[in-house]
Amino acid sequence: MIETILNYPLSRDRLIDLLSSSGEEEKALFNYSTATKLKNVGNEVYLRGLIELSNICDKDCFYCGIRKSNNNITRFTLKYEEVIESVKYAYEKGYGSIVIQSGERSSRSFSDKIDKIIRESKKITNNNIGITLSCGEQSEETYLRWFESGADRYLLRIETSSEELYKKLHPKDTLHNYTNRRNALELLRKTGYQLGTGVMIGLPFQTTEMLADDLIFMRDLNIDMCGMGPYIEHTKTPLYKFREQLPITTVRLSLALKMISLSRILMPNINIAATTVLKVLDQKATEKAIAIGANVIMPNITPLFYRKEYLLYENRSEPLFSFEDELALLEKRLETISHRIGYNKQGNSKHYTKNWSRCIPE
Ligand code: 5AD
Repeated sequence: MIETILNYPLSRDRLIDLLSSSGEEEKALFNYSTATKLKNVGNEVYLRGLIELSNICDKDCFYCGIRKSNNNITRFTLKYEEVIESVKYAYEKGYGSIVIQSGERSSRSFSDKIDKIIRESKKITNNNIGITLSCGEQSEETYLRWFESGADRYLLRIETSSEELYKKLHPKDTLHNYTNRRNALELLRKTGYQLGTGVMIGLPFQTTEMLADDLIFMRDLNIDMCGMGPYIEHTKTPLYKFREQLPITTVRLSLALKMISLSRILMPNINIAATTVLKVLDQKATEKAIAIGANVIMPNITPLFYRKEYLLYENRSEPLFSFEDELALLEKRLETISHRIGYNKQGNSKHYTKNWSRCIPE
């Protein structure tokens, strides 16, 4: 029954239909992706402690709150010692993996600092902590250096697979070039990382056809991980002037959930994140995303003092109490959908393990 609804294998036209689905058809889609998820990656959710290293960025993307031209924020960079403290915290609390995310910079001192953080993080955790980097486009040499120092995974969102839309969202220069970004993804794969990419959903000028192509792009790139979320307008960015064109909150959320659901169906054994940004649209969005396909959560463990400056988008929800309370609350919420946290596990992508026949601890 559900198979007929889906008309598996999914054609581009069918993807477009399903992205526009609502009511019973949408429900059937979610039921199918839930089953696909449970069969392939189970009901365990992996944690990645997110450390926002710096909001200094060389780029000037039209949608992003930490873009170079935004003079309304105070720029910060965590001290090396602060990062290591956060890593220790994550490890002790059983996170299993961390993500180091930063505005994009290419200076030698920046790559040296990341390198030192990777080495020390592995050292103080007896090689047990999984490390994901999300530090933008870098040279092949830098990617290799960080990989050899112990980084396991790399997230680089293509943002949109449509070159036409990409050009509308970025300044026209070599720093913001679609082909360069596409090539960076290839470099990362060649280097040996578990490869992650993703897109923003509900952007101005974005069509359902483009989102269907995003799904096909990710599948054809043979990614190991996917992190995507709704676009949220930011007052201090050029794209803000198009806010009237955006789909309303409920539609944007439903579109984001359908993208997650279809990603799970197209790429059954990859890791998919329920990204923090989903919560801007709905307090229960994390559980909803996990229930229909996602299996990774990235709680923010950046020292609280710096958090208010790392606003890629506005209305970001902050933890009510402490990090501990946030985790306890998350556990309770996951229980309501019969999921549990995979404490002390790196939670590597099953897709990668299978592809590369590497022996990686669970
Ligand atoms: N809304 C949603 N996501 C955003 N990002 C940047 N700006 C926004 C925004 N306004 C996302 C981009 C980037 C990631 C770190 O944050 O996809 O890759």
